[in-house]
Amino acid sequence: MTNPKNTARRRFLQYAGAGMLASTLAPKWLWAESARPVSRPSPGFRPDVDIELTARTASLPIFRGKSTEVWKYEGRVLKGPKDAVQSIEGSYLGPIFQLKKGQKVRIQFKNALPERCVTHWHGMHVPADMDGHPMYAIEPGQTYFYEFEILNRASTYWFHPHTHDLTAPQVYAGMAGLFIVSDEEEHSLGLPAGEYDIPLVLQDRTFDGDNQLRYVTHPMQRMMGFLGDRIMINGRPDFALDVEARPYRLRCLNGSNSRIYKLAWQDGTPQVVIGTDGGLLEKPERRAYVMLAPGERVDLWVDFSGRKVGSEMVLRSLSFSGAGHMMHGGGHGMGMRGGRGGMGGGRHGMMGRGGMGMGGMGAMMGGALPAGSNYPLLKVRIAKEARGGRTLPQRLAGIPRLKVESAANAQTPRPIALAMGHMSPRLNGRSYEMNNILPIEKIPVNTLQLIDIFHQSMGGGHGMMGMMHMPHPIHLHGQQFQVVSRSVSPEHQNVYDTVKDGYVDSGWKDTVLVMPGERVRILKPFDDFPGRFMYHCHNLEHEDLGMMRDFLVVE
Ligand code: C2O
Ligand code: CU
Ligand code: CU
Repeated sequence: MTNPKNTARRRFLQYAGAGMLASTLAPKWLWAESARPVSRPSPGFRPDVDIELTARTASLPIFRGKSTEVWKYEGRVLKGPKDAVQSIEGSYLGPIFQLKKGQKVRIQFKNALPERCVTHWHGMHVPADMDGHPMYAIEPGQTYFYEFEILNRASTYWFHPHTHDLTAPQVYAGMAGLFIVSDEEEHSLGLPAGEYDIPLVLQDRTFDGDNQLRYVTHPMQRMMGFLGDRIMINGRPDFALDVEARPYRLRCLNGSNSRIYKLAWQDGTPQVVIGTDGGLLEKPERRAYVMLAPGERVDLWVDFSGRKVGSEMVLRSLSFSGAGHMMHGGGHGMGMRGGRGGMGGGRHGMMGRGGMGMGGMGAMMGGALPAGSNYPLLKVRIAKEARGGRTLPQRLAGIPRLKVESAANAQTPRPIALAMGHMSPRLNGRSYEMNNILPIEKIPVNTLQLIDIFHQSMGGGHGMMGMMHMPHPIHLHGQQFQVVSRSVSPEHQNVYDTVKDGYVDSGWKDTVLVMPGERVRILKPFDDFPGRFMYHCHNLEHEDLGMMRDFLVVE
């Protein structure tokens, strides 16, 4: 058996060298060419599951009339259990992987798209060269062999492209899929399974009169993040779910480019949260609503027992402030304020008179579905009497509590400073640079790190971009982390009050929503694998605009 660490390291050194050369001698776009690995399966790796995953163009009957052109992942099992890959019929979404902790997995990723692409396994703890870093993007016609052992605990992870400058449009075109991991701890709980375990991928899209996807590229739209004007669930419009009157498990992923949801049942039924990004919580938590930012997952338990056959429940996104998309008239058009309570409400601030006027701006701001407004997501119909289903276990899983004292840098937290520069959102004052690791971005392998995420004003705070705070869902590759603390500046308290009860921070996370004025401290282990691991905003337009950096994990 090969030692994954050695392989990772060898490959890393090899390509780091090539990349460095490319950045000094060649224009930026050339690095993908120069650093490209010659990828082949490694002879020592014996996969339990071998999957072929192809990225291709497709034409789907999503609406009546003309078919919709999409880009999608298609998968099939070459070796291993046949149910390891499940396609969603008629959806642009990729297949659902059903894998187990401890399995060795090979994924042969074939690029049949007309442009370069790379695939990332969001939330998975894998070697750096298996993580879908943009430097491993492959050209049309090429294949990349991903090989890794599943070290993660049971949860709902996902995969999507991570192509330099192209992540947002590629995901928008349809490229995303779920990567579900199960393990013994989860299995022993007897949670709703099979048809009672339902994945819900929440996305927003805009279609033109010809049923074709429209991706707005107005610079301001990119700066704020793309908003579609209709909700797609599992790749389908007007999604409705027929259920039996019994408990269900709903695994929700926010796969939208920038839209943030505030999930609540319309009739006031509390949300019962059993898991977050990195798996089950210690015990279920009840909330009036749950915030779900792009990249995040939340595992919900819903018990329809005792509900009348024929009755309905509606899952909505409730209104909240500080979504960042509000327009405010006066001066030179777009005075975007970080959202004082009264202005952030979405509907009024944005749809009101004054400022930009409608036209193109209407579409740009989400049209019928402004960010932070109140709208339905899906309808659940109680269709049948129950056939059983266990009660909710009061204890779910063991979660070791990470301690600040155990961090290698307990006294000197590493910063992730969030800022909106002039037309480019930044991290630690920088845009993405392929081969420039800041000293604060070098992390010794096998250490626990305290990381401080906060907003920073750029350029002395003049001009709208300097003033603006936006919500940023911050995602770190590699291992899952824990949230240590959150705080908010007094002037953002009003906005904050509209979202704060919807955070579920007691479990493992890989993406954390940082609202305007908010500061979040996290503890993250960097074990096992040296190499470059990205951290970035999961507002995909922000990511493509350069709100991304690399940590270099060093031995
Ligand atoms: Cu879900 Cu770096 O991405
Ligand atoms: Cu990721
Ligand atoms: Cu952002």
